[in-house]
Amino acid sequence: MVEYVPFPRYFRGGFTCGETMNSFPWTETTATQIQQAAAILRAGGVVAFPTETVYGLGADARQESAVRRVFAIKGRPADHPLIVHLASADWLSDWARDIPEMAWLLAERFWPGPLTLVLPRAAHVLDAVTGGQASVALRVPAHPLALELIRAVGPLVAPSANRFGRLSPTTAAHVHAELGEAVDLILDGGPCAVGVESTILSLLDATPRVLRPGAVTPEALESILGRPLILGGGGVRAPGTLSAHYAPRTPLALVQRQELLGRAAELIAQGQQVAVLALGTSPDALPVGLDCVVLPREPADYARGLYAGLHALDRPEVDLILVESPPAEPGWLAVQDRLSRAAAAFAGPPQAGRQGHPSR
Ligand code: TXA
Ligand code: MG
Repeated sequence: MVEYVPFPRYFRGGFTCGETMNSFPWTETTATQIQQAAAILRAGGVVAFPTETVYGLGADARQESAVRRVFAIKGRPADHPLIVHLASADWLSDWARDIPEMAWLLAERFWPGPLTLVLPRAAHVLDAVTGGQASVALRVPAHPLALELIRAVGPLVAPSANRFGRLSPTTAAHVHAELGEAVDLILDGGPCAVGVESTILSLLDATPRVLRPGAVTPEALESILGRPLILGGGGVRAPGTLSAHYAPRTPLALVQRQELLGRAAELIAQGQQVAVLALGTSPDALPVGLDCVVLPREPADYARGLYAGLHALDRPEVDLILVESPPAEPGWLAVQDRLSRAAAAFAGPPQAGRQGHPSR
């Protein structure tokens, strides 16, 4: 059995939108580290820092060369825009224009928290940040370290601190394993409370559109807006159109529990090494030596452990990670989205441009 990273006491009570996690255990070292990180960012450096969702790869959003370094470190195409992280909704009118009333309502309810709003960009926002688009993505993160850093430096761009297409990091150790010396500093704020990336909501049209599901659910957004939303880029989400993303290096497949042991036994008989990400309980009669991470049955708790669980199973000797399919229920939307994209990365022919373990 593999254990996934346990969560520290300071957010054991769960995560509430609109509140900073003020119970974070500050020490004198924390303050010194933030000052050091702020100095690096002001000088155009790149610092990985914790947010409540996943770790971000931060740079000053007003320094073009720093923003370009973030793209270079991630290996990310320049036309994939970045999210600008603000310290409070008061900063919104400096970074967006024609802000609809809906945006203020949502900011009031969900910030600080895992909601990103896409709005028409203010004139000064760098093309390097927006990929040349007329819009900008903005959010106020809830982690106290992130907020303190943004207050000290100003708005920060921060994509997830992983190489393009890979699993997002939810601990400082994940960032270090993935990016190592490529970043100037990694701030350790403990494991992330939410565990999946923010919900992205576009407010560019009259009807708001969820571009990426996250911890802030469509139902929660609709209850504040008092009207229905559109889900996804163009309507119905079809598996064939899912872009491969958020993937471990090891191939991953989604299976129902009743098929899990049969599939595992079949693959093991073919000489393959299989690992399992199970839901709620460990399946009975797991073959000896098979690595299994068990994630909780409640969607928010599952999401919190998802990337840590996949990171733990994503090892060179493993040929396939079998993931027990979570229930097809609304509360599981964000988790379903990440798992389907991860599985889609391996659904095509083997030569479809994906990278395997470097050792292979
Ligand atoms: O939770 C999060 O959002 C994390 C933490 C670090 O804040 N950040 C994150 O960033 O997930 P990233 O870069 O990995 O994902 C940002 C997504 C990308 O898919 C990007 O295409 C989309 O946001 N995005 C950024 N600006 C956009 C815009 N103007 N219009 C539409 N989508 C946009
Ligand atoms: Mg990302």
